[in-house]
Amino acid sequence: MKKAAVIGAGMMGHGIAQLFAMAGLDVVLVDVNEEILDKALKEINWSLGKLVEKGKLTDENAKKTFLRVKATTNLEDACKDVDFVVEAVPENLELKKQVFSRLDKASPNHTILATNTSSLSITEIANATQRPEKVVGMHFFNPPVLMPLVEVVKGEKTSDETVETTINLAKRLGKTPALVKKDVRGFIVNRILVSMFTDACHAVRRGEATMEMVDATIKYKAGLPMGAFELADYLGLDIVYSVSKVMEEAYGERAKVCPLLEQLVKEGKFGQKSGKGFYDWTVGRPRIPFKLAGKYDVERVYAVSINEAAWMVYEDVADPQNIDTAVKLGTAWAQGPCELADNLGIDNVLAKLKELYNKYGEEVYKSCPLLEEYVGKGWLGKKTKRGFYTYE
Ligand code: CAA
Repeated sequence: MKKAAVIGAGMMGHGIAQLFAMAGLDVVLVDVNEEILDKALKEINWSLGKLVEKGKLTDENAKKTFLRVKATTNLEDACKDVDFVVEAVPENLELKKQVFSRLDKASPNHTILATNTSSLSITEIANATQRPEKVVGMHFFNPPVLMPLVEVVKGEKTSDETVETTINLAKRLGKTPALVKKDVRGFIVNRILVSMFTDACHAVRRGEATMEMVDATIKYKAGLPMGAFELADYLGLDIVYSVSKVMEEAYGERAKVCPLLEQLVKEGKFGQKSGKGFYDWTVGRPRIPFKLAGKYDVERVYAVSINEAAWMVYEDVADPQNIDTAVKLGTAWAQGPCELADNLGIDNVLAKLKELYNKYGEEVYKSCPLLEEYVGKGWLGKKTKRGFYTYE
């Protein structure tokens, strides 16, 4: 594999193109206008500069890497001689299908077409091409240059060879691949993040806590790198909204989109990139007061995340090990949700979910049957030497 194309030069696209170039591949970045491409090239240059500053890249290497990135508005021209394509255009199924139909016609027969979709169906996107066996999900995390995970998602017709090539490519880009066995909405990491964010957002909507209380608790008590609202703003509320909508369609009431998020998106407040979102980013990264840590119930953050992980095990989407690796590497949590459940005691997690469900009657708190089953069998986690994992 020598040459790749990345379609869409936004936050994800330009980061992915940079990764290809850093791994020694020539890469063409494609978008609809020169202005977006110029901005993307500037961002890549900035990021390479940061890596030099941190001693992760030599100055000479950074210069060579930058020269390997070309930019164009001509998709057909960009794809005529590439071995691999990653699409990273906005989360809109119709748009992605149109792009894939063009990629299929423009690319050589051997070329694998990957989508960086966060939530949409790989199978449906693949069906817009004549080569569904060569279409795969390759889901990077923001910022792609720093986050070590790539979810590799198999569509219904994706061949084993395509999956294997994509896994090897992810490794060549310096990433750890996590295989998602089923083409489910939200794959692994977004299912966990959306469940945590949805609970937090509804709590703020009900006036039970402020977003600063939630974020301070998540950051300083749970020890996650960013609060739920801070992370949503960082990722882009337009993106979080479209992912949440897809999840709502797939999982119903359990993933009910929070009206606060909907309102901000309607007002064009997309978070960091537009200056305003839940926080005001025009004055820099939000300062989340340490003194508010613990003013929200941290057990509840854990319980909803663990419940979603349990659903994934129950539905055979991924095993506990894969879920934990994906969450730790994709969002920099110190522990994955299954490990966390075993450490907290699955009986305690179930009790918290029941308490929340009794209080609010909302589906997000309805416990997964797997948790009931484990508790029924006495599999409570580390303390009984059996939970999501087995202990000696
Ligand atoms: N390239 C190079 N360097 C970068 C960079 C990039 N793209 N982005 C940030 N940096 C640098 C910063 O400039 C900073 O450098 P200085 O120390 O010189 O200032 C350094 O990295 C550390 O950054 P910060 O001090 O700003 O903040 P931090 O220590 O919190 O690290 C972070 C930033 C790595 C993003 C960390 O906060 C983190 O891991 N957050 C969680 C992110 C996450 O969960 N991502 C996944 C979300 S889900 C997703 O992406 C999927 C989806 O489909 C929506």
